[in-house]
Amino acid sequence: MSLPTENRLAIDYLTAPEDYRRQMMEDVRRGLTTDPKSLPSQYFYDARGSKLFEEITRLPEYYLTRAETEILIRHSDELMAEITPEEMVELGSGSSRKTVLLLEAMHRAGGYRYVPIDVSPEALKAAAAELFSVYPWLEIDGLVGDYAAGLDRVRRRGRRLIVFLGSTIGNYEGEQRHALLASVASALTSGDRFLVGVDLVKDEATMVAAYNDSAGVSAKFNKNILNVINRELGGDLPLDAFEHVSRWVADKSCMSQSLLATRDLAVTIADLEMTVTLRQGEEIHTEVSCKFTREGLDRELARAGMKMERWLTDPEGRFALALASPV
Ligand code: TRP
Repeated sequence: MSLPTENRLAIDYLTAPEDYRRQMMEDVRRGLTTDPKSLPSQYFYDARGSKLFEEITRLPEYYLTRAETEILIRHSDELMAEITPEEMVELGSGSSRKTVLLLEAMHRAGGYRYVPIDVSPEALKAAAAELFSVYPWLEIDGLVGDYAAGLDRVRRRGRRLIVFLGSTIGNYEGEQRHALLASVASALTSGDRFLVGVDLVKDEATMVAAYNDSAGVSAKFNKNILNVINRELGGDLPLDAFEHVSRWVADKSCMSQSLLATRDLAVTIADLEMTVTLRQGEEIHTEVSCKFTREGLDRELARAGMKMERWLTDPEGRFALALASPV
C-alpha cells in the first residue's frame, strides 16, 4: 500500500529564509561594488526564472538537454544494472524531467529513494508532486539550498549514486569547481558512483547560438536576475537599459554571460541603502557555462579523488555523461 503523499515527502531547508536573505544581500552588495561587477547565477532561479530555463531547454538552439536525454534513454538501464544504487542524490534537480529516465531504471534495479537538492523550492515541490503521482514506490527527501553545502547533510540509506546533470558543473570554475567535486567525492564510499553530464567543446557557432537564441528567451532569462533583485531587495534596475551578452572565452573554455548597460545608469537598491553607477557599455557578469573535454574532466575527477569509469556521448558527440567512482 502506498502512503499518502505528505508522508513520503520530506523537504528540508538548508538555510533558513532569514539567512538566505542575508546571504543574498551580501552577495549582491559584493557583486555590485567590485570591478568588474557580477551577480551569482543561483539568483536566476525564482519561480519565473525556473520556468524560463525550462523554456530554454526546449529551444532549437539549446542542444544540451536533448543530447543528454538521448544518452539517458540509451544507457540508463545498463548504468543502473551496473551500479544498483538504493538511493539517488541529484544536485540542481530543477524540474527533474530527465531524472525520470534514471528513476525508472533505478527502480528496475531495486532502488527506491530520491534526494533532489535544488535552490528553487517551487521547482522542487512541483517536481516532487509530479513524481509521486507517477511512482507510488518512490521515497523523496528533498533539500532546498546550495547543493555544494548540502551534500554532507544528506543521511545515507544505502548504496548511493550522486547525479549532476545538464552540465551545471560548468557553471563553476577553477577552485570552486574543484571544491564541489571534492565534496561529491567525500559524500561517496566504496561501491558508490557519481554520474555527471558535461557539454563538450565544439565549433564556436553552435555554442554561441545555444546562449543567443533567436526567440530571445536566453535574454529574458538572463535579465530575470535583475527582476529578482528589484523585487527582493527593493532595487530599481531598469531592464530595458540592459542587453543580454553571451560570448565564447577560449582561454577559459567557457561561454560567458553578462548584462551590458546600454546607457549610463545610477540605480538604487533600497534594502542595501546603496546606489550603483554603471557606465554605458559596462557589463555585469552573470554566469559562465564551461565546456569540457574527456581528458580535462578525467584530470579534474582524479584531482578530486575520483576515477572515471565510463564515458558516454550522444551519437553526434555534443554532450557526454561520465561515470566515476571514489578511489
Ligand atoms: N545552466 C545553464 C547553462 O549553463 C544556464 C543558461 C542557459 C543560461 N542559457 C543561459 C544563463 C543564458 C544565462 C543566459 O547552460
